[in-house]
Amino acid sequence: MTKATVLVTGAGGYIGSQTVLALQDAGHRVVGLDDLSAGRSELLELSDRIAVADCADTARLRAVFEVEDIAGVVHCAALAVVAESVSAPTRYMANNVGGLLNVLGRAVEFGGVPVVFSSSGTVYGDPGSASGPLAEDHEVAPIHAYGLSKWVGEQALAFEGAASGQRSVVLRYFNAAGADLAGRSGEWHQGRETRVLPRLLEAATRGLQFEVAGDDFGTPDGTCVRDFVHVADVARAHLRALEYLWAGGASRLLNIGAGQGTSVLQLVASVEHVTGKTVPLRIGRRRPGDVAQLVADVGQADATLGWRPELSLDAIVSSAARWHARR
Ligand SMILES: NC(=O)c1ccc[n+]([C@@H]2O[C@H](COP(=O)([O-])OP(=O)(O)OC[C@H]3O[C@@H](n4cnc5c(N)ncnc54)[C@H](O)[C@@H]3O)[C@@H](O)[C@H]2O)c1
Repeated sequence: MTKATVLVTGAGGYIGSQTVLALQDAGHRVVGLDDLSAGRSELLELSDRIAVADCADTARLRAVFEVEDIAGVVHCAALAVVAESVSAPTRYMANNVGGLLNVLGRAVEFGGVPVVFSSSGTVYGDPGSASGPLAEDHEVAPIHAYGLSKWVGEQALAFEGAASGQRSVVLRYFNAAGADLAGRSGEWHQGRETRVLPRLLEAATRGLQFEVAGDDFGTPDGTCVRDFVHVADVARAHLRALEYLWAGGASRLLNIGAGQGTSVLQLVASVEHVTGKTVPLRIGRRRPGDVAQLVADVGQADATLGWRPELSLDAIVSSAARWHARR
């Protein structure tokens, strides 16, 4: 499609705003929607048109579809802090499932507008410390309400697809990290950052002690192993997924990751290398909902979308360091 209008929900958030930029850079026009419960108006304003609304608000969403000629939807809006979902499971389920159902309902109502859905590698639950990269056919077994909310969303899309032919691409991302290479967007939330890289960068630049959440996970150095994929690579996957759906592609479910694991201590070493500062460490307790290892097999995304990760861990850490230094 040469120039389309795309609705991006969660456009005031981290991945949503980067996806807005990727779509605009490819010549598309974006209507960004966010309730700003976690995101920032400064990021939402990157969109061509904005709607400050709850994506579960049927009347508001219907009005967007009535006024705009929406050719595709990227549904990123969600509450997305795993530990918070452990203590507030009902709030997480209601927000994340309720939002997806309303977005899906409107996509169907307005003629089967293709949907790209932000799911998560956490749907695989706890595959154990000995597991290698996980393919899409690995058993799904969420261990917290956040992961469950994503899996229910995936199922809703699959059931609707079987019933009405509604097409979607589900992207199960692993750990998005880094910032826009041109410095236009990055992690920036209401309140304190919860994810490991911004917290590590804050510790490095301000000389604060960083608490490693457990070093007894049964991984090579004992700390959690995650698959860190550059947010610009993640954003590009949405563009590829929409292009695939616009070309008539069938519904698919794809992992999006770097395809390799990095432990927390390896990430600390990369932050120290990039910033030239030592991060004072303290070993603390495990956080609720953390599992030993989550690494993606990304072969299907390559085979289906021609997408593979392009940016390295150093590019992740250095782009994030530039973003956080500017802020
Ligand atoms: N960051 C990651 O590594 C990662 C990994 C896997 C999946 N995901 C998923 O990707 C999506 C984006 O994640 P992110 O890291 O950008 O999170 P984020 O918190 O930065 O962005 C989510 C945005 O959604 C908004 N939002 C929440 N509930 C809403 C609602 N009911 N109506 C309208 N807006 C609402 C928030 O205000 C926020 O701006 C989420 O669905 C998340 O679950 C993220």
